[in-house]
Amino acid sequence: MTTDLSRRQLLAATAAALAGSPLWAHAAADKTAAPRFELPPLPWDASALDPVISASTIAQHHGKHHAAYVANLNRLLPNSPLTDAASLVEIIQRSARNEGSRTIFNNAAQVWNHTFYWQSLRPKGGGTPPSELAKRIEADFGSLAALREATLTASTDQFGAGWVWLVLDKNQKKLTVVKTGNADTPLTQEHLVPLATIDVWEHAYYLDYQSRRKDYAAAVFDKLLNWDFVATNLAKA
Ligand SMILES: [Fe+2]
Repeated sequence: MTTDLSRRQLLAATAAALAGSPLWAHAAADKTAAPRFELPPLPWDASALDPVISASTIAQHHGKHHAAYVANLNRLLPNSPLTDAASLVEIIQRSARNEGSRTIFNNAAQVWNHTFYWQSLRPKGGGTPPSELAKRIEADFGSLAALREATLTASTDQFGAGWVWLVLDKNQKKLTVVKTGNADTPLTQEHLVPLATIDVWEHAYYLDYQSRRKDYAAAVFDKLLNWDFVATNLAKA
């Protein structure tokens, strides 16, 4: 039987091995004792985005909301037909096609979406994208300002909770902005490759911006967006 200490060491070693993975979620080696998925650590200190997003918001958002999605998924998965899925993305894509797995889909997608959101942000982000990416944005949107406007419009047009995404549309061979409701994610559409996202659920901004969702989205775009993450995702697409 695995002791708590050795299990922690195992998880730490696995975490270290996967630290370079863009979406840090894994199947633990001891499935009888360890949860299937772990809450990924933030890629920066919880206060690093202050004052654009406060440490209080990050602590609640990551430590309560994101953590709850992970816990719910770990609780639901063992009693589902998705126990054999090899990855979080496979769980999302299979459960999206099955209305009976809606609760698993919601929690699995929210785990993935939040991990992607944290990576889409960085302290002292925003500003001018790297030159190749800037050229691509100019070609597909007309200008960085037009992409910004499309992002803010999508954030305010999204009715209720959801997400705004910069994606590569492989059918149209161009970058575009899409919005999704609740837990929905572009991962369920084969032709869309997510490049960055902004969480527009109220829990992402209400402590800092109250109902001013557009101000929050503008501040994230201008001051936090991680253009290097966008460029890396586009290069892999
Ligand atoms: Fe969120």
